[in-house]
Amino acid sequence: MYEAYLVDWEDFGPNVVNEVRKYLERTPRSREIYESISEYIPLGVNSNQRYYSPYPLYFSEARGSRIWDVDGNQYIDFNMGFGTLITGHAHPRLVSAWEKQISKGILYTYPFELLEELAELIPEMFDIDMFRFSTSGSEAIMYACRLARAYTGRDIIIKIEGSYHGTYDYVLVSSWPTRGLAGPRRMPVSVLDSLGLPEDTEDLVRVVPYNDIEPLVELLEEEGDEIAGLIVEPVMMNAGIIYPEPGYLRKLRDLTREYDIVLIFDEVKTGMRAYPGTAAQMFGVTPDLITLAKAIGGGAPVSIVGGDEEIMSLIAPSEAPRYQGVIHAGTYNANPFSLVSVYVTLTEILTKDEYNRLTKLNEELKKGYEEAFDKYGIEAYVELFGVSGAIMYSKEKVRNFREVLNTRLELWYPLFFSMINRGIIPNATGPEEMWTLSVQHTEEDIEKYLENIDYAASLMSESLEYLEE
Ligand SMILES: Cc1ncc(COP(=O)(O)O)c(C=O)c1O
Repeated sequence: MYEAYLVDWEDFGPNVVNEVRKYLERTPRSREIYESISEYIPLGVNSNQRYYSPYPLYFSEARGSRIWDVDGNQYIDFNMGFGTLITGHAHPRLVSAWEKQISKGILYTYPFELLEELAELIPEMFDIDMFRFSTSGSEAIMYACRLARAYTGRDIIIKIEGSYHGTYDYVLVSSWPTRGLAGPRRMPVSVLDSLGLPEDTEDLVRVVPYNDIEPLVELLEEEGDEIAGLIVEPVMMNAGIIYPEPGYLRKLRDLTREYDIVLIFDEVKTGMRAYPGTAAQMFGVTPDLITLAKAIGGGAPVSIVGGDEEIMSLIAPSEAPRYQGVIHAGTYNANPFSLVSVYVTLTEILTKDEYNRLTKLNEELKKGYEEAFDKYGIEAYVELFGVSGAIMYSKEKVRNFREVLNTRLELWYPLFFSMINRGIIPNATGPEEMWTLSVQHTEEDIEKYLENIDYAASLMSESLEYLEE
């Protein structure tokens, strides 16, 4: 079994194989757990993104910027819950608020009094008229799509090729299509991401490239009056990080207005990423609906769908009987544990000053990476958005997902194994993922990260030679 774990890595050259070997040697307890539980839990994980070869690490404790695996290895964590934990792990203010709340109950399924404060805070902070809480980004996305359909009386959702919006069936399309399946640029094919999606999914979800207005205009000219919603991450953050070109978001706003389509900004990742607010506010483009999750809750399971009053009030139409509005419900929605977390995170922890400090630290990581890439002749650059950053494995600036597919994504593996063996989790799991700094990261944490970049880059460069052989 042990040797079998190494096979996948032979094409990367002997030093990467050595790093994987080291990984196996340092993490026997994780391997044991993986081997025993994957018989019962598919892939040994409960979210597909958590799996990677040879096996994922299993963790037992986290505090501040640190996390410990079950073998007692300590890591400085730059994954931070796939970008959720800008608070860092177990922030003392959250812990104290949790302790107070836990003894008073964490699930009432009756409305909780803190809603009064949050009903003032959230609309003002995120520039929305009305909102509802639920528990995951995927749910918020599902509600946004349902509201768009209810409001327009139409069925089709347009999404961006290469964007991931969670696990709701009618957005699980072309999140990562292969080149062979993706079809022509001007008319991308809707590629189903999962088995088990309803047959009508490919008809009800259309796909357009990011930063490319022409294909959207053509689609709208043909089918504009059948489109309910256009959903977009204002900054793409699931294929590395890709910024909107100047005027792109504005153009989306104008076109969706022209065709009476609900514009949805998926701010699950972009919200609270660069300052205390949304990307919509930063770019000065107001969508009809936004979804928020991840960073707003400091680690608690919580999400928001919110926006325009006329659309949101379809959840409770004034004249209709109770169940004629849009259904939005959930046992765990707005539970006291999550609401306390949101309140403390937004009012006490994620301050403007912290974003300023972290944005500066983030620049140091970019510089460190780019110097090492230069030194070893690696064609890659770093894109930052607020407290997060991603390596784009390309010399030229990437504008959309198809260009990401042409990059050397496999270079993430040597980077990952070299860093993790030296106590650094460099980013969230996967080459398309970002790193995130938290308010509990220190200058020393960044220095430790920087110290390891040179070796990681040398391994990436060596891998390139072997992979090209
Ligand atoms: C942009 C975006 N939207 C939606 C989701 C789904 O959120 P969740 O995993 O909380 O369901 C994610 C998850 O990573 C995401 O990155």
